[in-house]
Amino acid sequence: MKALILSGGKGTRLRPLTYTGAKQLVPVANKPILWYGIEEIVATGITDIGIVISPETGREVKNKTGTGDRFGANITYILQDKPAGLAHAVQIAQSFLKDDPFIMYLGDNLIQQGDLSYFLQQFTQKQHDALILLRPVANPSAFGVAKVDEYGRVLELIEKPQVPPSNLALVGVYFFSHTIHEAIACIQPSARGELEITDAIQCLIDQQKQVSACQLEGWWLDTGKKDDLLEANRLILDTYLKTSNLGEVDAHSQVIGRVQIGSGSKVINCTIRGPVIIGSNCYLENCFIGPYSSIADQATIIETDIEHSVVLQGARIDRIHQRIIDSVIGQCAQLTVAARRPKALRFLIGDDCQIELA
Ligand code: TTP
Repeated sequence: MKALILSGGKGTRLRPLTYTGAKQLVPVANKPILWYGIEEIVATGITDIGIVISPETGREVKNKTGTGDRFGANITYILQDKPAGLAHAVQIAQSFLKDDPFIMYLGDNLIQQGDLSYFLQQFTQKQHDALILLRPVANPSAFGVAKVDEYGRVLELIEKPQVPPSNLALVGVYFFSHTIHEAIACIQPSARGELEITDAIQCLIDQQKQVSACQLEGWWLDTGKKDDLLEANRLILDTYLKTSNLGEVDAHSQVIGRVQIGSGSKVINCTIRGPVIIGSNCYLENCFIGPYSSIADQATIIETDIEHSVVLQGARIDRIHQRIIDSVIGQCAQLTVAARRPKALRFLIGDDCQIELA
């Protein structure tokens, strides 16, 4: 059994962060999203992992993630020259996958820890051609949706349907036998120009192959958009964060609840109410850092209140006298109040940024 993690794609919904980096490397609780998937896969006992990368962000993914040693895995990188669809990613990975059964895991998805082993067991025991995971959602039109009979057999899959046949969305984790390669060979690009994995699975269904579905009871998040990223950050901090302090917290500061502070970080006259994670070599002075905030390494926050937000590496937030909430602040971004007159807002804002002023 192998695993194929998809870490290419365009990442248009997470612009501007994806102009300068891979969305799968955006940190959730200060750890790249992609790494949660790798850890989940390794926890099932699968260590032979292929990661599909793009020409734009592949080098960064490779440099950061490495050969797999840190996860106890053996990682092979597979270059997809254009984001031509999930099925295309499987197609170009065939020389890595060979005829082995495999898990396909979307590199920007997160599922609750421990769930993967159970589904892997279902897949291997029942010798399916494909096993898909489904989760009821409020807005099925935004997802691949499945029509399932009372025995859990999948009757039909439709990508982003205008009139959804059910509220069961396809979770970004799939189990396939080698028969998926023949199915992919039969399909054509969709209207949006991609080789769709839903079309390949539909092809298996049409050929009377064994395609089953399991419902995922635990949480699942597709972190491809800002609010989903913040929700993932909230869930991970809520579920897994452990208290530890390797930094310096002065006597005027108050640290309440589960808070993790990295080495070399200084906290001066702040109130930090967990769950909060602060990376290493950060500088925080006269701040309130509220629940569900992740502050990455080398960030500086001065005289600012912030909560339910993700601050990336090296960002500086200085004397913003309004509370910042529900925000993602990019690497080395600077939010400051200028002393100079006239008092005014001055911006240098990149393409596709979103700024909401109170
Ligand atoms: P998506 O989020 O569906 O696509 P995208 O990354 O292009 O994002 P957007 O819609 O915001 O433009 O992709 C799911 C995962 O699969 C994600 O980790 C990227 C990866 N992927 C590939 O590796 N190759 C591909 O051809 C596509 C379409 C996605």
